Amino acid sequence: MAEAIQQLILDTLDKQGTIKDTRTLVLPGQIDPAATHDAQIIILGALNSLSSREMITYTTQETLSHVLTQEGASIALNGSHEARVWAVLPLKGEGEPVPPKELEKRVGAETAKLGQANAFKKKWIAKDGPGLVKLVSEIVDQTQLDMREVDSTGTLKAGEKALAELRRRKLITQRKGQWFTVHKGPLFSTSIAKPETDLTVDMLTSGSWKTSTYKRYNFDAEGVPTGGGSLHPLMKVRDEIRSIFLEMGFAEMPTSSFVESGFWCFDSLYVPQQHPAREVQDTFYLSDPSTSLPPPEAYYKRVAKVHEHGGYGSTGYRAPWSDTESSKLLLRTHTTATSASMLYKLAAKCRGEEVDDDGLATHSGTTQTHKEDGEESDAFRPAKLFSIDRVFRNETMDATHLAEFHQVEGVVADRGLTLADLIGFMRVFFKKMGLENIRFKPAYNPYTEPSLEIFAFHPQLGKWVEVGNSGMFRPEMLEPMGFPKDVHVHGWGIGLERPTMIKYGISNIRTLVGHKVSIENVESSPAVAFHM
Ligand code: PHE
Repeated sequence: MAEAIQQLILDTLDKQGTIKDTRTLVLPGQIDPAATHDAQIIILGALNSLSSREMITYTTQETLSHVLTQEGASIALNGSHEARVWAVLPLKGEGEPVPPKELEKRVGAETAKLGQANAFKKKWIAKDGPGLVKLVSEIVDQTQLDMREVDSTGTLKAGEKALAELRRRKLITQRKGQWFTVHKGPLFSTSIAKPETDLTVDMLTSGSWKTSTYKRYNFDAEGVPTGGGSLHPLMKVRDEIRSIFLEMGFAEMPTSSFVESGFWCFDSLYVPQQHPAREVQDTFYLSDPSTSLPPPEAYYKRVAKVHEHGGYGSTGYRAPWSDTESSKLLLRTHTTATSASMLYKLAAKCRGEEVDDDGLATHSGTTQTHKEDGEESDAFRPAKLFSIDRVFRNETMDATHLAEFHQVEGVVADRGLTLADLIGFMRVFFKKMGLENIRFKPAYNPYTEPSLEIFAFHPQLGKWVEVGNSGMFRPEMLEPMGFPKDVHVHGWGIGLERPTMIKYGISNIRTLVGHKVSIENVESSPAVAFHM
């Protein structure tokens, strides 16, 4: 179609030299002359395409024409209201006068009302007793004739005044139209060669580039909209939580090691080797490689000893120690594995070792020195550490559980820390996340005593939800690392997915991560979840 119209324009120009008025062109398949308006739109497309190749030039002429409104179109078809009223009445003296109720039945309430008034004015009808009759046997329905004239010509011979009256009666409306005058362009030809858009090696070697026509660059084209990236809700929440920790003076732990050994993930945390969490149903073990490099020897021995025989005031688990169990490689089930190795590193100076402890935060002011009881107090530096990263658990997936998720983890190590410090920290931290109301419930972890589960009242959900787990690390864990007795460490683990789901109103975790994630939602979700 488009090509045919371009060809028609070129052929007509070839014959006539110019096309003064494109309304004289009859398009292929155009039978309805009333469709000139649409025809000009199609022609404009062809003109633009030809002029971009400089085959033609054209100028635009604006026109104003009229089209019928819905009511106008109904009058063109069925006659004016007054004519319709007149048509259903008997001529005076020739039949039963029609009572108003009956008239309404015959032509409809609206036509009966509007039509009667006009028909009376025009003296087409009159009252005869209780009913209505025709006064004249023939009428000229000028309104209907006008509608038909406007419909086919877009105007009225009667002139602008008559048009204005019809516009006022909302029977017609104005429509802007256009038509074009077309001249030959500098590259006029009657054959449409597809312009080249690329200069190819073939064109250069054959020399055809010299005679080819090229499509011009359109510097005004808007181009394809560029899709900007957007952060996934989990990453936004992660950033927010990260900034809360940073503003509270915490340093981030390096959590890139998704694979850990049984030693760092469990043994160093005083998790008994027979603990159910260590079974294959709960933990993913690696098959190749399946065993880790040995941990620092002296520390390893101390850990094995406290498990098997106790020490540091503890009886230990009194169960045989297994090197095999300790060296198994696994996908970390919690980021507490990283906390343990960072704490081990933090205690290096207390053990009298020299280490590069870059990345460990120190804070001042709360440390008391205890030189008098013989502790090597200068060697210990307090630390506040956090991490937000992925952990893996061999769980059946459902609406609220995935086999991998993110943990917000943290530890604070200082002399003389108490449970009240942990509770105080939690209150401040959760308040910064927008959760003002929190409660604690005693819990059990092999590595902390006491342990607390943290519940927050969720205003949107109207109920208490578990948001984390925490506790004071046990001496069985800290002392083998080399920490002096008066150094206490508290720590916690908080899920990242749950607060994110609550904040973004997501009820199924599979719509938060995985192939069911709605990119649209990701793009439109607010940048800040907690401080709204
Ligand atoms: N590791 C615990 C968990 O995965 C969280 C925790 C960390 C608890 C540190 C106490 C101390 O749930």
